[in-house]
Amino acid sequence: ARDDAEGDGTRQSVSVILLAGGKGTRMGANMPKQYLPLLGRPIALHSFQTFAHMMEVLEIVVVCDPSYRDIFEEAAKDVAVPVKFAIPGKERQDSVRSGLNEVANATKLVCVHDSARPLVLAKDIRKVLKDAAIHGAAVLGVPVKATIKEAASDGFVTKTLDRKYLWEMQTPQVIEPELLRRGFELVEREHLEVTDDVSIVEHLKHLVFITEGSYTNLKVHFHLHLWCKMWNLVHALVVI
Ligand code: CTP
Ligand code: MG
Repeated sequence: ARDDAEGDGTRQSVSVILLAGGKGTRMGANMPKQYLPLLGRPIALHSFQTFAHMMEVLEIVVVCDPSYRDIFEEAAKDVAVPVKFAIPGKERQDSVRSGLNEVANATKLVCVHDSARPLVLAKDIRKVLKDAAIHGAAVLGVPVKATIKEAASDGFVTKTLDRKYLWEMQTPQVIEPELLRRGFELVEREHLEVTDDVSIVEHLKHLVFITEGSYTNLKVHFHLHLWCKMWNLVHALVVI
């Protein structure tokens, strides 16, 4: 059964674009990092299942190379939510654009999530969905703990940024579909650089709300992968 913690009329109004089209070149594993195993399942299936069990979700559009579709098709058999597929693009944004083309007309919010973040919590997803419903665009983020400095190309510090205004962005990034479409039009027309989804909307001068999330919503990288391996080992020992 899909859990509807709130029951507040937001049922089946959100299209999830689950990004799984990257190649994981920086990590250099023998497969894209989102398909490495974590506790007996590919990393990408963790957030897939978290979304699939939420009442708010109308559909999941998985953006992945066709050779990996069967992983999601198999998992889709056990859940009630419709699952669609889209072809990845060269850059992350091209993959988001591709996923957006498949989104149902009835959708109220588009929720873009990196499948390389398997540990996202349903409670944080709900928080960011609510904030996006109010503000049109919201993103999960956490206050930056490190001291961040700006440096010139010669390597010398030019500025120490004030930490109390700095947030590290995570996903989901949640945006009204019309706003996202208009943002893409502007970005494409003016060839603007974007590294995340809400910055598309920032170009439209639309205010983006930051929803405070959890530090545990990590993106898989090499060191985290070593942790995953250790957990797999512990899991295997416990199961045996
Ligand atoms: N992604 C995607 N399509 C792309 C690039 C990235 O769907 N063309 C997805 C990745 O699968 C990942 C998320 O976007 O879930 C965040 O990207 P990133 O962490 O950069 O992963 P990769 O692009 O796979 O890694 P790298 O940049 O090292 O190649
Ligand atoms: Mg990348």
